[in-house]
Amino acid sequence: MAGPPVSTHTPSDGPAPEGPSADQQRQMEQAYAQMKRKMAMQSLGKRIKHKIMVLSGKGGVGKSTVSTGLALALAQQGHRVGILDIDITGPNVPKMMGLDGRRLHVEEGRIHPAQGHLGVKVISMAFLLDDDDTPVVWRGPIKLGAIQQFIGDVEWGDLDYLVIDFPPGTSDEPLTVAQSLPDIDGMVIVTTPQDVALLDSRKSIGFAESLKVPVLGVVENMSGYTLHGRAPAGTEVQIAGPGGRTHTATADDDGSFHVTLDLFKQGGGAATAEEFGIPFLGALPFDPGFVRGGDDGVHRIVSDPEGASSVAFGKVVAAVQAQIGQASSTGLEIV
Ligand SMILES: Nc1ncnc2c1ncn2[C@@H]1O[C@H](COP(=O)(O)OP(=O)(O)OP(=O)(O)O)[C@@H](O)[C@H]1O
Ligand SMILES: [Mg+2]
Repeated sequence: MAGPPVSTHTPSDGPAPEGPSADQQRQMEQAYAQMKRKMAMQSLGKRIKHKIMVLSGKGGVGKSTVSTGLALALAQQGHRVGILDIDITGPNVPKMMGLDGRRLHVEEGRIHPAQGHLGVKVISMAFLLDDDDTPVVWRGPIKLGAIQQFIGDVEWGDLDYLVIDFPPGTSDEPLTVAQSLPDIDGMVIVTTPQDVALLDSRKSIGFAESLKVPVLGVVENMSGYTLHGRAPAGTEVQIAGPGGRTHTATADDDGSFHVTLDLFKQGGGAATAEEFGIPFLGALPFDPGFVRGGDDGVHRIVSDPEGASSVAFGKVVAAVQAQIGQASSTGLEIV
């Protein structure tokens, strides 16, 4: 690509006009850098087939767990997958991907992602921190500038899917990403079955509409906790669940029984989805293995690919893929 514009003045043109001031020069350089970045983003749009944002209204509902789970489940299907962790204040995707303590690798001005489990490429704001315990407190414009730079300067290569994990709430970050990255397929909204989280996810749906990015649907996380036990075949077992509810199960012929307790109210995600006329992408169980996986850097999907949580993730991925297929098939077609 050509460099910044240079003066073509020759002596026969008459007296030389005054050159640009230092200020003008800086502005020209900034405009040039911005143009280059914009072009890089447009080419990103082409080299990454699908881009999915993961959002929630409320913090701690499991966005990062869902983002990393989606990325890993897609990688398990053989896709080329990347994950972009936008959370500057509390980024924990690298930890969940087994990349704790990594730093960025920069070559010829391009940022190269780290490779996590199953070859998933990871870029996180955490790679910029000197010390994981120091939260980055960046003022708004600097933070948003850094996000744009991140998007434009990362060398992802060709990807089938890029999953973008956000900090909680309807802040400026999703807006910046939606404006910077072309052709986002849509967003997945994560909620827990509690009322407050539900209210907030309603807010995020309204916000999604204002971003003009399609809502792919709602995932209900921490939906129920399944107890597994053993008793003589045919025995009826009673378990006191939360809220004083008694759950009854009968042991199978092989002497095993399972009871699913609703730790929070169940079905809220589906109800919100129905209310707003958006798809329900599925429910993920409450699974203490997610917490352990977050701490020791091996996601549940990697440590237990056949387990109930992985199966539930598989269903959510299938629902997301169906939505993306649907979204693209409703686009303009030239025949
Ligand atoms: N289905 C689940 N079962 C059990 N624990 C879970 C589940 N999903 C997430 N968690 C745990 O809940 C905590 C918060 O999850 P996570 O970090 O994914 O949420 P988040 O929405 O990304 O949070 P933040 O808003 O801070 O970015 C973590 O300790 C995680 O391990
Ligand atoms: Mg998070």
